[in-house]
Amino acid sequence: MADSGTAQVQGELWSARALDWAEVQEGMMRPVYDAVLATLDLGPDVMLLDVGCGAGMFCALAAARGADVHGLDAAPAMLAVARERVPQGTFQPGEIEELPYGERTFDVVTAFNSLQFANDPANAMREAARVAREAAPVVATVWGDPQDCDAAAYLAAMAPLAPPAAPGQPGPFALSERAALEGLVSQAALELQAIEDVVSVWEYPDLDTALRGLLSAGPAARAIRHSGEPAVRRAAIQALEPFKTARAGYRLENTFRYAIATA
Ligand SMILES: C[S@@+](CC[C@H](N)C(=O)[O-])C[C@H]1O[C@@H](n2cnc3c(N)ncnc32)[C@H](O)[C@@H]1O
Repeated sequence: MADSGTAQVQGELWSARALDWAEVQEGMMRPVYDAVLATLDLGPDVMLLDVGCGAGMFCALAAARGADVHGLDAAPAMLAVARERVPQGTFQPGEIEELPYGERTFDVVTAFNSLQFANDPANAMREAARVAREAAPVVATVWGDPQDCDAAAYLAAMAPLAPPAAPGQPGPFALSERAALEGLVSQAALELQAIEDVVSVWEYPDLDTALRGLLSAGPAARAIRHSGEPAVRRAAIQALEPFKTARAGYRLENTFRYAIATA
């Protein structure tokens, strides 16, 4: 695997609890996947690349619609889940800023919440554009506005427990403003077609499941490494308190934003 950029570091963080991610957290993005899938014309002759594919749920959904799916991710343990789920797909470790594909290879390129982990998201978007065929849709999904995301409180609680971010490293909401997404699209010389918001409700039946899901993400793994699991669990439990339901479960409403552009 390329060890430049953030792939080495992020790959370890996102591999730490890949099964928890796949079993609990990944599915929370289903409304976003469905919204994006509804805009795409997928079929057997369509080659799709999902950049930062994680455990492969989006690739599985695209493959079920007949697409020839390819996924790239930094985390070996995530890729192992993706390969098991989508045996007909092609999954490869790598760095989103240095895609190991030729120019104009894919009919569709997607990225769900992965660009913000690149050292330089504009570079990652240029790479996505480079490997997209002429007129191919390139879809970039990021968090929506922080005020529309209950998880912003939880992410804010994690931040002081993690080591300071490297200078220039974008935070979770760095690409969320419409202007930031528009900038990303134009820096990659893509033509913007639409920017849409989708609400995703994160519901957990109990605290254990909520912690399994939330602590499986890379930023939580980073905080656990730095401050230890007990401190991270305490902070997470406190941040989740306002989202407790009458049945002792948890419910967080979050908005995600995607840009569809064409190469
Ligand atoms: C928030 S997860 C999203 C995963 C998947 N797209 C989903 O929707 O579940 C971010 C993913 O980006 C990957 N990632 C982060 N930095 C990366 C990099 N520099 N190169 C390749 N993948 C990276 C992580 O390993 C992780 O699987």
